[in-house]
Formats: sequence, structure tokens, C-alpha cells
Amino acid sequence: MTSGNLSRVTILLAISLATWLSATARHVNAQEHRSADEARRVEALLADMTLEEKLGQLTQRTAGEHATFEPDDPESEHQDLPTLIRKAKVGSLLNAHGAEYTNRLQRIAMAESRLGIPLLLGNDVIHGYRTVFPIPLGGAATWDPELVEQAARVAAREAAAAGTHWTFAPMVDICRDARWGRIAEGAGEDTYLGSVMAAAQVRGFQGDDLAAPDTLLACAKHFVAYGAAEGGRDYNTVDISEQSLREVYLPPFKAAVDAGAGTLMSAFNEINGVPATANHLTLSRILRQEWGFGGFVVSDWTSVTEMVAHGFAADDADAAEKAILAGVDMDMSSFCYLDYLVDAVRQGRVPQARVDEAVRRVLAAKHRLGLFDRPYADPEHERAVILSPENRALARDVARHAIVLLKNEGNLLPISDKVASLAVIGPLADDRWAPLGTWSGVGRNEDVVTVLEGIKGRVSADTEVRYAKGCDVDGDATDGLAEAVQVAKQSELVVLVVGENADMSGEAHCRSSLDLPPVQQKLVQAVHATGVPLVVVLMHGRPMSIAWTAEHVPAILVTWHLGVECGRATADVLFGDFNPGGKLPATFPRTVGQVPIYYNHKNTGRPPGGDRYTSKYIDLPSTPLFPFGHGLSYTTFELSNLSIAPAKIGAGGRVEITVDVKNTGNREGDEVAQLYIRDLVGSMTRPVRQLKGFRRVTLRPGESRTLTFSLAGQDLGFYDRDMRYVVEPGVFKVWVGPDSTRGLEGRFEVQQN
Ligand code: NOJ
Repeated sequence: MTSGNLSRVTILLAISLATWLSATARHVNAQEHRSADEARRVEALLADMTLEEKLGQLTQRTAGEHATFEPDDPESEHQDLPTLIRKAKVGSLLNAHGAEYTNRLQRIAMAESRLGIPLLLGNDVIHGYRTVFPIPLGGAATWDPELVEQAARVAAREAAAAGTHWTFAPMVDICRDARWGRIAEGAGEDTYLGSVMAAAQVRGFQGDDLAAPDTLLACAKHFVAYGAAEGGRDYNTVDISEQSLREVYLPPFKAAVDAGAGTLMSAFNEINGVPATANHLTLSRILRQEWGFGGFVVSDWTSVTEMVAHGFAADDADAAEKAILAGVDMDMSSFCYLDYLVDAVRQGRVPQARVDEAVRRVLAAKHRLGLFDRPYADPEHERAVILSPENRALARDVARHAIVLLKNEGNLLPISDKVASLAVIGPLADDRWAPLGTWSGVGRNEDVVTVLEGIKGRVSADTEVRYAKGCDVDGDATDGLAEAVQVAKQSELVVLVVGENADMSGEAHCRSSLDLPPVQQKLVQAVHATGVPLVVVLMHGRPMSIAWTAEHVPAILVTWHLGVECGRATADVLFGDFNPGGKLPATFPRTVGQVPIYYNHKNTGRPPGGDRYTSKYIDLPSTPLFPFGHGLSYTTFELSNLSIAPAKIGAGGRVEITVDVKNTGNREGDEVAQLYIRDLVGSMTRPVRQLKGFRRVTLRPGESRTLTFSLAGQDLGFYDRDMRYVVEPGVFKVWVGPDSTRGLEGRFEVQQN
């Protein structure tokens, strides 16, 4: 480079630096201005509010499931809602959908209430709004946080256009027991994967600037340890050590808070004898003092007054006091703050300052969302955004990334274009509800492309497709089996779609069995007995125990509940237009009797082995059917050249781990390289493996890529007996592999600083 060029480059660099600096300064100024404005506005309002109006801001109620509410219709079951809003007795509503309906509600608050404080409108936008994406467990199976973030962005765009300001998502509960129906709503069993997905969703919902018209305030839920319910039964007791609480269940919430989540929801369960909704340890000490969380906490639906049933509060008044004193700022749906806290404050049991603090947080959130300046949604914009072709295209892409190829003996998949006849069988093959999954919001069955439709839309003109339902998802009727068998016999290949309905997982939908319902098991066996090559497509909201299918059926796809683009995404994978690369975010057990089963367990003093007196069952191997992180591809990959440097670090240091990933097959595909560690000796026992990093990469045939993971000493610690986070010196094993049971192995050492 000549000196002339060099100085031109220097000048250009200087100009861009100056531009960047002034843009950053403008941004910082705008932010400072906004916070000053927020504080002024909030304080001015607070000074003007009565105690009743303040408690109204801390009260949320439902506005009905559908936009049918007539504000002044005396016949409506919600007839009191306009009055409640007018008198400022509610600051927030849930379940109000649609720009026109929400605008009508908002107009009452803005124009007819004394102070004109906008309503905060919340909804369960869990995996998409009208464009329904895969259930969150499927989202986690992509191992692709960028895609998950984009899906949340689209959900936010649609919901915000329809007048929603706040989503009760992400659900970041870790779950090691697949009986729990709500495993469908989270990222599965792992804390690290769960934390990455939690942050991705918060970024997606909230965008860069909450005041923008296409964002939603996020709500990480259910704080905390809700997924550790005994027996996998929803709402059940949770009794866990503080170590587990801090190491397993809290980190995804911390990740959500660090990503800027504006709110948290307190859980229904108790934690070691104290309900999560009045738990000072979690709500005050950890959340406020240790993490410095500045947003607000909403209760779950009547979780405050349920503390009476827990046997923790004498009555609703007592429950309200306990919840607000512990740190729950807003009551969802029970009205107990409004009904009882006036007296509690006047009689000095709840400090006025605590109420003001909660109101300040709620008003700040409304300000941050820009609701004081832009309270209304635009119905025209809503029509343009909802279920747009681009949104559907993303839903299809996320869905095919979420599919996991469990097994593919003899490369039965992908299906050749030359196949002359195809049987599509099963109760879920042409089902329009199951693909939506649990909490599908305003998703509609008419928007769904079924698996049968997806296949019919994909096959070549020469392929004949025959369909038979075979049986219902559940029940005793077996009269459809004969037709299914006949259709199978007439075909070259069978695609059999079985699994769970949308309402077999989700809230209050736990199962004591993880098997296919018996009638579907009969169908699988009957179709298998025909000897026609068989592909099973599983549609479901949780890991399932499919031991018989796994042993006998040559090809199996795990497809979760994939959303509106289910059929096209499944066909993309079946025919090889998209090479599957998803990985299991939760262990698949052999039978429910192995539950809880998870990869990062402790070793015990007698790990399972050949000897009789080891930690195992006498009637079952101790290994899972399919391990956490498992997933195959239509191509093959090889990992090589693991290098770890330096070999020794201090607790404040960093270790770099590099590995080469090569596509050794003959079609493009994705591999997820997974980094695990084990702390060999600690002052507290440590798990046999812990996920600490992963990367999903797409490689062409023969292509190789070097991946680098960087681990800080601080990533290697744990909570000691005194609940201090410590990084202890010692040897750490490292694996980089394609799942949680395999991989290249190395080690490094952490030394005393
Ligand atoms: C109860 C559920 O537990 C929670 O996840 C949800 O957000 C609320 N209901 C509101 O629908």
C-alpha cells in the first residue's frame, strides 16, 4: 500500500470512527433523555395517584379468550370490565386479542379513566402468534439460537400488531422428567442450552428498543424450579437443594435477565416449603440483591391466593401481604391486591413504599414500551403482518431445523423421487390440530399444512399416495387397522405418523406413561408386520419411550409439534430437500421407570457396571434409549484434531478448545458440535458431564471447518456448601462430540491463582 493510500485509509477510518462515536453519543443521549423522561413521568403520576389507583396498576385480570367483548353490553359476562378500567382498578389485562378490540379497551383507559394511564396488555405468545412455530422444545432441538431469536421476533411483530404489549414467555423451566406436560414449553433438560435459548427468545421478543412498535416485553417464567415438580405432576411440590436451585434451575432466568427481560412470573410451586410466590430467597435475595433485577414480577394465575391451599397463608388477605412483601409486584387474576392491600397499607402491615416501588416498576415498563405516547395498535398494519408469506417461510425453516433423525437403518431415508407408491398412515397424518401443539395462542387449524398435504404437495407426478387413518390417537377402536394394513401392502413404502395430540402435553397435561397410546402401538406393529419398508414420524410434546419402535422400525423422525408449516417441513426432510440436523434437547428413556433420567447426573459411588451391587435396575439397562444431544443426518461427519490450550489456567484465565468438523459424506448437511466438561474432583461432587458450548454448522460434502470454543475459568465453578460460587483447582475432562455420550476427549487443569 502506498503512503497516499495509507493516509486515505486513515482518514476514512477516522471519519467512520467519528461517525460511530457521534451516533453512539446520540444513542446514549437519547437513552439518558428517555430515562430522565421516564423517571419524571412516573414520579409525577405516583404523586397524583390514590392508593386504590396504585393497587389497580398492580392488578391484572382476564379480558376473555376472544375479541367478542362489547364494552357496554350489559349481557356480556365481562360487563364490569369497562367500569374496572374506567375506575383504574386494573392496570393490565390478559387474553385480549386483535387491534380493534384492544384499542377499544385502551381508549377507555386513556380517555375515560382519571389519569389516562395506558393498559398493559399481556398474552401467552409462546411459540408464535397466528404464525405458529414449533413448540419451544422443538425450537431448542434446532440448537440454533439465531433461528429461535428470529422466530420470537416474528411472534413479537405479529402479536404487537394485534395490540399485545407483553408476552408470558420465554418459559425457561428446566425439566428432567418428561411426564411433566410443560416440558413442551421449555428448552428441555439442560441448563446451558436452556440459558442460550432463554436469552435468544428475550432478544427476539424485545428487539433492540422496546419502544419500537414491533416489540413485546418478555416475561421469563416460572420463577422458579416449577419444572422440578415431584413425580412430573404439574403444580406439585418441589424439594431440592439450594445447590440444584442455583446451578440447574436459576441460570436460565439469569440469562433472561442479563438479556434484558423486563419481567418475571412467579411460579405455582413451593420450593422447600415456601411457595415461589412468597419466596424471599428467590424473589428478593437472589433476584433483586444478587442479580440487581430492575423489572417487575407478576404472579402466575391466582398463584397468590393459592398459598391458602398450600397451607402457607391463612386467607387471601394474608396471601396478598405475603406475596407483595416477598417481591411479587402484580397479581394475576385473583384481585387480592386490590381487595386487601388498602387495609394492609393503612394498618401498617405493608409499607406504602413497597407498593410505590411495585407501581414505579409497572409504570416504568409501560413507559419503556412507549405506551404513553403510542397506546393504540393499527388494524391495517395488523392485517398486513399476520401470517405473511415471509413469516410462514421462516416457520417452515425453523420447523425443518427442529426435526431430529433418530434412526435411519440402511439409509431408508430420504425417500427417492422414483418411489411409485407411498402409504401415508396414522391418526396424526392428516390432523390439523396436533401440529399446533400446546399454547398455540390465536393459531388456527385451517392455517396448518398436514403431513399428508405436505407429502402430496411434494411427490413427483408418478408417485401414487394412499392414505389411511388407521386409528384414533387414543381409545379402544381398532376397526381401522385392517384398512391401514391393506393400504400399506399396496405400497412400496409407508410413512406412519403417530404420537400425541396437542393436548397431551402442556399445562395440567402430565402423563404417567411416555409410551405411544396402546391403540397406536398396535397400529405400528400391524403395519410393521406387513414387511413393507417403514418410516415412523413421531409428533409429540415430550420425549417418548418408544423402545419397540426403536428396535423394529428402520427409520424414525422426531418432529415435535411443528406449527403451521408442519407438513411442508416434514416433507422437506422426508424427501431430502432439507437434510435433518436437529438434536435431542432431552433424554429419551427406555421406559417411564427410568425417569428422571438426564445426561448430567452425578456418578454415585457405584456407577452402573457389570457388578451386581451397582446403581442400576435389574430389569433394564441404565442407559437411555436415545441420549441428550443425539441426532443423525443423511450425511456423515468426522470430528478431529481436538486441541486445548493452554493446558493449565488460573481461575481468572481462559482456555481455548478447537476442533475440526468435516462432512465425510456426499450431501450437504448440519452437525452440532457439542462441548462438554467434567470437573473430576470437587469439594462438592460434580456431574459426569456438563454442556458448556455448542455450534451448529452447515458443511458441503468434503468441507471441513475449525471451530473454536472459549471457556473462562469463571464458567467452571459451582456453589459450595456455604453457597459461594467457587472455581476450584483441579483437572477437567473435555469432550467435543456429536451427542452427550461420544466425542474426542482431552483435559486441562485449573491451578490455584
Ligand atoms: C397459567 C400458566 O401457568 C402461565 O404460564 C400463563 O402465562 C398464565 N396461566 C396466563 O395464561
